[in-house]
Amino acid sequence: MKKIVIALDGYSSCGKSTTAKLVAAELGYAYIDTGAMYRAVTLYFLEHHISLTNPKEIKEALHNIDIEFHYNPKKKRNEIYLNGLNVEDEIRKMYISDKVSEVSVIAEVRRAMVSQQQKMGRKRGVVMDGRDIGTAVFPDAEVKIFMTADVDTRTKRRQDELLEKQQLVNYDEIKKNLLKRDLIDSTRAESPLRQAEDAHLLDTSHMTIDEQVEFVIERVTAELLRN
Ligand code: DC
Repeated sequence: MKKIVIALDGYSSCGKSTTAKLVAAELGYAYIDTGAMYRAVTLYFLEHHISLTNPKEIKEALHNIDIEFHYNPKKKRNEIYLNGLNVEDEIRKMYISDKVSEVSVIAEVRRAMVSQQQKMGRKRGVVMDGRDIGTAVFPDAEVKIFMTADVDTRTKRRQDELLEKQQLVNYDEIKKNLLKRDLIDSTRAESPLRQAEDAHLLDTSHMTIDEQVEFVIERVTAELLRN
């Protein structure tokens, strides 16, 4: 069976990563969370006090950043490592969410991440989620999905997710952060968040996870049967 690239793009917290993980597991594909990569870069920049307006500092910092994913069999998930250290939990915290969009508008950062993502998916057989996968990283992805949901549904989902990790965050604070990130992500100059012309639109506002997974699998099956 031929292996394809599945690109899942869309707004923050509309169920991309949960859907992507389950689709990858069902197909035996690798799952790559590209948002985690931008979050890891943000963590590094904050820890090393990198100025976001100093291109030389940014370039040097990017040379010193090594990002890898390793599968954790106990938790049955890919976890992200920054320079050898597992930062999977740290990068999900609110102080990273607050800064990550500002870091991911930087052209040098995007170039470095996109090139690494293209290497990770060069053998295909990957489900990649992010903002620009179907438009910039893999414009030739065989299946592209663009996910959206209304902002209150997304806020509630993110709040529940954070609560599961014992992080109590105010509803309005989360909503404000989502709206701010949506705005920065979709208006930035370099590969902004937008629906690729050949992407299927998936509005998850009133859908269960199972229904979202089914939507993607149906498109994948159609693509695999096409050839
Ligand atoms: O998917 P996420 O919420 O973890 O992503 C965090 C941020 O990273 C998001 O606000 C925008 C940025 N991002 C990006 O610019 N391009 C991607 N392919 C993935 C994420």
